[in-house]
Amino acid sequence: MSARIIDGNALAAQMRTDFTTRAAAMAQQGITPCLAVILVGSDPASQVYVRNKIAACEKSGIKSLKFEYPQDANPADVLGKIAELNADQSVHGILVQLPLPRQFDADAVLEAIHASKDVDGFHAENVGALAQGRPGFIPCTPNGCMEMLKSAGVQVKGAEAVVIGRSNIVGKPMALLLLQAGATVTVCHSQTRDLAEHLRRADIVVAAVGKPRMVTGDMLKPGAVVVDVGINRLDDGKLCGDVDFASASEVASLITPVPGGVGPMTITMLLANTLQSAERQLKARQA
Ligand code: GUN
Repeated sequence: MSARIIDGNALAAQMRTDFTTRAAAMAQQGITPCLAVILVGSDPASQVYVRNKIAACEKSGIKSLKFEYPQDANPADVLGKIAELNADQSVHGILVQLPLPRQFDADAVLEAIHASKDVDGFHAENVGALAQGRPGFIPCTPNGCMEMLKSAGVQVKGAEAVVIGRSNIVGKPMALLLLQAGATVTVCHSQTRDLAEHLRRADIVVAAVGKPRMVTGDMLKPGAVVVDVGINRLDDGKLCGDVDFASASEVASLITPVPGGVGPMTITMLLANTLQSAERQLKARQA
């Protein structure tokens, strides 16, 4: 079998056309959707991610503000900036790029962002809303994965789904979203005794561990749908996912590539959350 590719670039481009229209419509009513991004330190990957997020905002007609702090920044300064942005009516989304330097308590920083501007969906209030199936901001990467499954017409209801990875950013929210969509969900992680045993039954596999090519074709059920969240840089500078694309695409029915799969969808869902936040403000003003 040769798997069909779920093209993240194509889906992202299609969704972003609608964003430009929505942003322009809001601008006509006096609201320019605005995302504030805080970057602390000089992690090269974080710098690339932030640059890409800001460029994507600009292309969709979303204003962006960038606040940079050195590696040895005082957490109080960053918390002060967050308080200022929380109070600023013209800012609809606040994002603090992770990871933060070690002098920071990352949880405290994420909790300081007002839940109504937490476009990353990392605040406890939004995490709780997701767990209880109430409306709130959904973390961008797992939300992007769900959009990819939807666009490919994958039947999630009743499916056996295996999520590999239990991070707060991807694994846990991904499992909750799949569960809410009616899948039977297993979360595997570094302590799982026999990953292959779980994967053998999986109709849907989401790999989010950060280990290059750890999921190979021989571990998959024939016809499985494979979503690869991993972005790993190899010694030769090339990017690869957590899934061994060559062997997995021989067994799977649908697969997301790296690059060009989940990556562009993560940023797309960030733009979607920022627009949602701005639209909510507009609605409140009109009420
Ligand atoms: N670092 C890695 N992924 C993310 C993300 O989705 N949001 C933020 N803020 N930082 C990250």
